[in-house]
Amino acid sequence: MFFWLSSLPMDTNRRQFTRDLAFTSAAVAVLRPASLQSASLAPLSFVIITDTHIGKNDSAAPERLWAKTAAEVQAAPGAFVLHLGDIVDGQREPQYARYLEVRKTITRPVYEIPGNHDKPEDLKKYIRKEVDVFFDHDWLRVVLMNNSRTDSHEGFFSDEQLAWLARTCQEAASKNLRLLICTHVPVHTNAHPDRGWYVKSANGQTVFYETMKKHDSRIIGLFHGHFHNGLRGWDDHKPVHEILFPSALYNQDRKLEEQKAPGYNPKEFRPGYTLVTIVNGTMTLQYRVTGEEGGAEKSLPVSQA
Ligand SMILES: [Fe+2]
Repeated sequence: MFFWLSSLPMDTNRRQFTRDLAFTSAAVAVLRPASLQSASLAPLSFVIITDTHIGKNDSAAPERLWAKTAAEVQAAPGAFVLHLGDIVDGQREPQYARYLEVRKTITRPVYEIPGNHDKPEDLKKYIRKEVDVFFDHDWLRVVLMNNSRTDSHEGFFSDEQLAWLARTCQEAASKNLRLLICTHVPVHTNAHPDRGWYVKSANGQTVFYETMKKHDSRIIGLFHGHFHNGLRGWDDHKPVHEILFPSALYNQDRKLEEQKAPGYNPKEFRPGYTLVTIVNGTMTLQYRVTGEEGGAEKSLPVSQA
């Protein structure tokens, strides 16, 4: 059996070590395996893009912006890239070829989920054989699930999907992996001045959150697209961070912070992508504006499993 203190990494920051001890009893600190301490997780970075809407208004402009974004993503750090849905606009099937042509310029793995503008059968036809999948990267299991329907802005989970998710999380726990769960539509309840688009209780929200609760200290985040509101998030299901990422095509300022909407929504609404970096127990989200200076940054604690 490994004990945390006996396998403390050489580069562990002394301040982090002191802080961990201050927040836990010495006995707990000694008995906690090193692999579960978020500060001991190997540094990891990856990129999030979402809502490229290739072909919107039958214009070539979204594709041109996607090419510009892809060039920046290729030059950015990150072990892999996640696209959180609405790859094309309005189910325009011929646009998948355009999207993929540009995607080739990113030489790291890119994983997509469908949004409400993507038919799941098109994802199967052009992107990969199965829609709901997971992959493991070092200490992290990334779960990619479809919760969109082309005829609604709300989110939906079937009983089958929820059972698969429970098994997938359980298996991750048995392998001592952390979890990142990605769906296009947020699960978190939101109302005006937000969009009011989420997974209602009757559509799977309650069961989804019950599964999350069982594994919450393993979950580094629930990541979504869909809102086109820049970087938007809530932390009221602590320690789980629920985050909506900025669209690579367009975002709108709904003045959420001025209207005291719950959660956060930093003032940056230009098209861009997000570099996620996890180091020493902190997850930093760097929202980078495509082709321009500036952006927004948010730092969040990674849960201590
Ligand atoms: Fe979208």
